[in-house]
Amino acid sequence: MNQQASLIAPGENTERFLLRENFGLFINGEVVASASGKTFETWNPSTGEVLARVSEGDERDVDRAVRAARAAFEGRWRGWTPYERQALLYRVHDIVERHFDELAEIESLDMGAPISRTRASKSALLKMILFFAAQSASIAGQTVQNGLPGDVMTLSIKAPVGVVGGIIPWNGPLVGQWWVLGAVLASGCTAVLKPAEDASLSVLRTVELLREAGLPAGVVNVVTGMGHVAGAALAAHPGVDRIAFTGSTTTGRKIIEASTGNIKKLQLELGGKSPDIVFADADLDKAVPGAAMGVFANSGQICFAGTRVFVERSIASEFSARVADFARSIRVGQSMDADAQLGPLISGRQLDRVMSYIEIGSQEGARLVCGGQRPGGVPGNGYFVAPTVFADVSNDMRIAREEIFGPVLSVIPFDTVEEAIALGNQTEYGLGGAVWTRDISRALRVVKGIHTGVMWVNCYGLIDPMIGFGGTKQSGYGAKGSNAHLDTYLYTKSVYINT
Ligand code: NAI
Ligand code: MG
Repeated sequence: MNQQASLIAPGENTERFLLRENFGLFINGEVVASASGKTFETWNPSTGEVLARVSEGDERDVDRAVRAARAAFEGRWRGWTPYERQALLYRVHDIVERHFDELAEIESLDMGAPISRTRASKSALLKMILFFAAQSASIAGQTVQNGLPGDVMTLSIKAPVGVVGGIIPWNGPLVGQWWVLGAVLASGCTAVLKPAEDASLSVLRTVELLREAGLPAGVVNVVTGMGHVAGAALAAHPGVDRIAFTGSTTTGRKIIEASTGNIKKLQLELGGKSPDIVFADADLDKAVPGAAMGVFANSGQICFAGTRVFVERSIASEFSARVADFARSIRVGQSMDADAQLGPLISGRQLDRVMSYIEIGSQEGARLVCGGQRPGGVPGNGYFVAPTVFADVSNDMRIAREEIFGPVLSVIPFDTVEEAIALGNQTEYGLGGAVWTRDISRALRVVKGIHTGVMWVNCYGLIDPMIGFGGTKQSGYGAKGSNAHLDTYLYTKSVYINT
């Protein structure tokens, strides 16, 4: 890990973007200051240095943004045909493609993911825009038969739900915001986005590009600020019809409570403690790096990270040793280090949280095989932690029950398929999971047996919006991806026509 860093300099456009003294809110197509005039700092987590100042919105700004979104929803945007919205999404696709290098650099600088990772997300991001462009031309109600006397025709119409509040997390906003943005633009809804205070910049740059692509004023607004102020105001605002939220289960509960005022529709993607089950017959050349990156990717800051790696007992010690070798071989570095495979955690707060779990793991009697401290050779005061492997973990330890959101992998031995399924399900969460085996029947038994919103077989973490993913149990509800996704941005109106 102690290699010479080859830091790449941000491009001209990125430099120009970051030169701004202060990033305003984006309301009704304009960049504006917050009502209070207050701003907050956003850091480069690779160095611990201030990257930019961002406007700190409060309930007054949220109110202004919601009114703009409502006016846009009731205004000309309502008359846009599906083809016009689709054409807008194609223009957005082209602009995002042209500006992608800049967007990737902004994202890496602001949230710490290595530039290799953000650059590699290009095709995923563009595919998402194409997916939603296609969806905009596939909204359809039905004509249905009925048992009414006389000659009555019955049909259903799909209509956009209205103003959507999108509360975006910091662990990959450049791509993540598109689950909301894409559906809003495809469905004819309007939106107020509240990016996470730790990583707002790629969202702010994206809405500027949307404006350039011809998005009418007010259709998408962005209020940056603190979660408990701006986020809470958005979640409670009576002018918001629907909330899409990704984040912690604790905050998700608050969103549900805040939704009761005007019975908001919700889509929640919350925490996870996903099981990754490795059988002795698995191809370990694939399973070792696959399971390792199922946890370490994005420094463990992924909701469906496969943090509980259940390994058949006969190979558990070999597997632990190999996964630790793999972990040691990963190059950790600053986000603009072209060769870095893992970057820092998002913040000092998350670093403290992850380090405290590593401490807890050792106290609980788990065996620390590698990592557990700051990696050597990384310059600066960034929030780094080396990829960490615990062996001899039992499923009732806190490190196996609670979401750590850092690069911490637990190896838990098991003896039978039934035991692996039972242990895999012994969690309050139900987001992701995987199974590694050459035996297709056994793989399918596990797929059927584990209660999660997504299962991978002999791979981990693949996502395509055409099928998407989602959560069950305390990992949330509401589709992300597939045809069901857009449907949650629409409501159904039944129509009875006496002919
Ligand atoms: P968080 O859930 O508090 O933050 C996510 C988003 O919610 C941010 O935009 C934040 O500003 C907003 N928010 C915070 N409080 C709010 C409130 N009362 N009302 C409305 N919006 C609010 O998560 P946080 O504190 O950043 O991270 C803590 C833990 O949450 C992590 O360690 C991780 O376990 C989990 N998390 C999970 C994510 C996922 O992808 N499932 C993403 C981010 C965090
Ligand atoms: Mg930042």
